[in-house]
Amino acid sequence: MHGVTPDRNLALELVRVTEAAAMGAGRWIGRGEKESADQGAVDAMRAMLDTVSMDGVVVIGEGEKDEAPMLFNGEQVGSGNGPQVDVAVDPLEGTRLTALGQPNAIAVIALAERGTMFFPGAAVYMDKIACGPEAVDAIDINATPSENVEAVAEAKRCEPTDVSVVVLERERHEGLIRELREAGAKVNLIRDGDVAPAIAAARGGTGVDLLMGIGGTPEGVISAAAIKCLGGALQGRLWPRDDEERRQLNDAGYDVEKVLTTDDLVAGDDVFVAATGVTSGALLRGVQYTSDGAVTDSIVMRSRSGTVRRIEAHHAFAKLEKLVGSSLR
Ligand code: FBP
Repeated sequence: MHGVTPDRNLALELVRVTEAAAMGAGRWIGRGEKESADQGAVDAMRAMLDTVSMDGVVVIGEGEKDEAPMLFNGEQVGSGNGPQVDVAVDPLEGTRLTALGQPNAIAVIALAERGTMFFPGAAVYMDKIACGPEAVDAIDINATPSENVEAVAEAKRCEPTDVSVVVLERERHEGLIRELREAGAKVNLIRDGDVAPAIAAARGGTGVDLLMGIGGTPEGVISAAAIKCLGGALQGRLWPRDDEERRQLNDAGYDVEKVLTTDDLVAGDDVFVAATGVTSGALLRGVQYTSDGAVTDSIVMRSRSGTVRRIEAHHAFAKLEKLVGSSLR
């Protein structure tokens, strides 16, 4: 056999981290308490994270250290051995979705070589458009929504009426939604959680062609990491909420006019991503509880090899409880 000796695929270690987070949140599905659901996910993710063979620094986490006791930006995570990496986590993407028992909440983590992830800083929001491999050359964040729908339909050899676009249901998107409908697209409005649909758009066979609209910048970076593995594209542009925020961003050296490509958001070329479903959606099934444990559904991927794995795990609570010494029920 020629070529490079196969190395460790950290995505296979990361899946245990997102499974733990999903189960940590899973007990809070539909209970109306989003803070508790988030806490359950954060605690479980943090406890598992140091088993991963990496020397990681959190670039996208739960916020700054004084407000987030765990998984704060700058925190060192991982075993300390292995590659030096930037880490982006969203232990529970869709806290409200989980609390309300609605689809598409996931636990997600992404790694890339140290210094290669875009640091969102004070850039809370980003305008985004994300698609799968067939439409990479068709999308253009500077074009109108109808131009994008037409170009994507052409690239996918279908009609504009076949194109499904996921958009966060927000007042700021009224114009976008109207234009997309006028272009003939099927607009799928979601309450929260734009990472799962961005990944679904890139994955294909999920019924999602595009994600469009303004959502979180950290979520944009995590989506870009997954899209880098899957082969689609994400274009973003920072979206300051007012002149004051625009000025702050300019002062901090961000170019708010610049179109950020997948590579601008995640420049590394050895990217690992794992995501586990909390509630069922287009991308993943949610955590299912059985008489003796739980079943989780995850997707794990690596950009360098392009391998994408779907992992169903059966967690036997009686055995795990002996190991961790506390109840999982
Ligand atoms: P949660 O904080 O409830 O997990 O919501 C996450 C999210 O819906 C992201 O998926 C999205 O990018 C962002 O919030 C949208 O922000 P806003 O709700 O302020 O419009």
